[in-house]
Amino acid sequence: MAEFSAWDRDEARRIVGGLVHLEGATLPLLHALQEEFGYIDAEAVPLISEALNLSRAEVHGTISFYHDFRAEPPPRRVVKLCRAEACQALGCEDLVAHLAQAGGIAVDHASPDSPVAVETVYCLGNCALGPSALVDGELIGRVDAARLLALCETQPGSRGQR
Ligand code: FES
Repeated sequence: MAEFSAWDRDEARRIVGGLVHLEGATLPLLHALQEEFGYIDAEAVPLISEALNLSRAEVHGTISFYHDFRAEPPPRRVVKLCRAEACQALGCEDLVAHLAQAGGIAVDHASPDSPVAVETVYCLGNCALGPSALVDGELIGRVDAARLLALCETQPGSRGQR
């Protein structure tokens, strides 16, 4: 599980200062901020725009263009569920239905204050052991509906059996 620091303007300024010299620094900067804080806080936009002499709109545009960047703090647990062909053949869509029916969890539609976000990915390189899921960065194969729901409902630090 990635542990993120709480947003800290001074720390963000330090990160920006450390990477500003790179050519094409916008993406490395955004990645570094998201790695540290789990998202790109709105306060980071003016920091980046001043440091790189870009307009705020340009920085916003970059953040919204790349889907991996978050503008809100992430949910406490992130589950990436593979829905590519091999995992489809092994029942991943049944898992999606079970999460919705039994857990009220809508894949790819977590609200910002949700404790869990389940997101679709296409192939985790674990096709033979599907359905596959990545839970807080840990790959889990042959996941079944009950286990997946339990993982979604268990918070980091008390994950239960895998
Ligand atoms: S298709 Fe799901 S891990 Fe490859």
